[in-house]
Formats: sequence, C-alpha cells, structure tokens
Amino acid sequence: MSRDLIIAGNWKMNTTPTTGEDLVTAIDERLSSMPPENLPQIVLCPPATHLARLASMTTRHPFQFGAQNVHWAESGAFTGELAPSMILAAGASWAIIGHSERRRYFGETDETVRKRAERALAAGLRPIVCIGETLEERQAGATFDVLRRQLKVGLEGLTLTGKGGLVIAYEPVWAIGTGVNATAGQAEEAHRFIRDRIAEMWNSEIASGTSILYGGSVTDQNASELLACPDVDGALVGGASLKVDQFAGIIAATGAK
Ligand code: PGA
Repeated sequence: MSRDLIIAGNWKMNTTPTTGEDLVTAIDERLSSMPPENLPQIVLCPPATHLARLASMTTRHPFQFGAQNVHWAESGAFTGELAPSMILAAGASWAIIGHSERRRYFGETDETVRKRAERALAAGLRPIVCIGETLEERQAGATFDVLRRQLKVGLEGLTLTGKGGLVIAYEPVWAIGTGVNATAGQAEEAHRFIRDRIAEMWNSEIASGTSILYGGSVTDQNASELLACPDVDGALVGGASLKVDQFAGIIAATGAK
C-alpha cells in the first residue's frame, strides 16, 4: 500500500498509570496471535500522566505512542500545555491535534490547529489532525464547506510530505461517542473529498501518500466495512480502544486492506 495503515487509540481522559499498563499488556498479548507482517501501525494515545511510563514498557509489539494535544511553543507560561520536545522525550512520536472535544470544550480553532500542527511537524512529531462536521452542519448541507475551511485554515502553507508525515482524521462530530458511525459511503465520500483538497493544496503525490483515518464510533463490528473503503487508511478509535477484544478486532479488520 502506498500509504501508512494506522489504527490509533485515543484513550481520552481514561485510565490510570496502572490500568493503562494493564491495557497495553493485554493488547500486546492479544496481538501475539496475529502475524506481525499483517499488522497496521498501532498508535496508543493515553493521558499525558502515563505517556512516558507506557512508552517505556517492554512489549512484543512495537507500539507507537502519541499525546492527545501539543502546544506550539517550546516552553513558557502556558499552564496545562505540553511542548513537542516534552512529548518526544516521553518516548512518543505522535500528537492528536484539533480533536472535536478540544474544539468544543476548550476553544480550539482552525488557527490554533495550524500553529500546533506546524510546530509538531517542525519538531519531528507526526500530527493526527482531526476535522469533521457537526450534525447541524451536515443537515444544512454544509459538510464539504466545513471540511474545506478546516483544511484550508488549519493546514494551508504547512510542509506536508505524504507517507510518513501528517495524518488527517475525518471525525464527523455526530459520530463521536454516539454509537452512530458514518456509513461506508459517507466515510468514503468525505475521505475522497479530503484527498482531492490535499491534491489541490499540495499535489497529487502528497495526496495519495497522506493517510486519512476515519473516527467516530468505530467498533469491531463496523471496522471491516469502513476499512474496506479505498480512501480509508485506518481508524482513530475512542471508546473501543479501551476494550481489548474490540480494539484487537479492529486491528484484525485491517487485514482486509
Ligand atoms: P469514539 O471516539 O470512537 O468513542 O466515537 C472517537 C474519537 O473521539 O476519536
């Protein structure tokens, strides 16, 4: 495949250092029965309090780790934030940026997404930039306008490299934590649109090398159908990433790609 296939687990504000370690161990054990060459890249994003501890665990599977946010400054008076170098020093190589919960509850905007993504890339962190429309926006027929704006304001001018670089997660807000996932048709339509915009903003080579993950109520039941879409290159999983059976099932579903 010309793109990275990625299953990322966004643990959100769940787990303690101890239960987080148990979860990594349990996932590791489940993966040992799957042929390693068939596995996608697996990125775990626990709370920052135990990122370093989990990233230093000895596991059979080479898990990658990510933070749930990243700031644009290297240090300073930014209470509650994490600098890219801190995340790297904790043993993580990824950062989720612009998750809809950050946008909704903590005032994240396309402008701050851009600043975070730019610094993350410059520091050598791989950003997972989340975009997606609300239910009202979809019902108003504004889905593609919203995605276009989020991509333009959030990413324009950044140095993208395609494979191995920045990743986009299409996460329709109405699908997050609701149990109502986008259909395969809705996901493919949005992913295709996003890839076409990347081709327009950069070029077709970068567009075809950029992984676009789907997020929003992904489970082991719907993962195969969603992952079968040609422009769906993996998943950003919330609730189901905390359940070993579910998460392992979603990972196994990438075998169909
Ligand atoms: P969910 O969350 O899988 O629980 O819907 C996805 C996300 O917020 O990234």
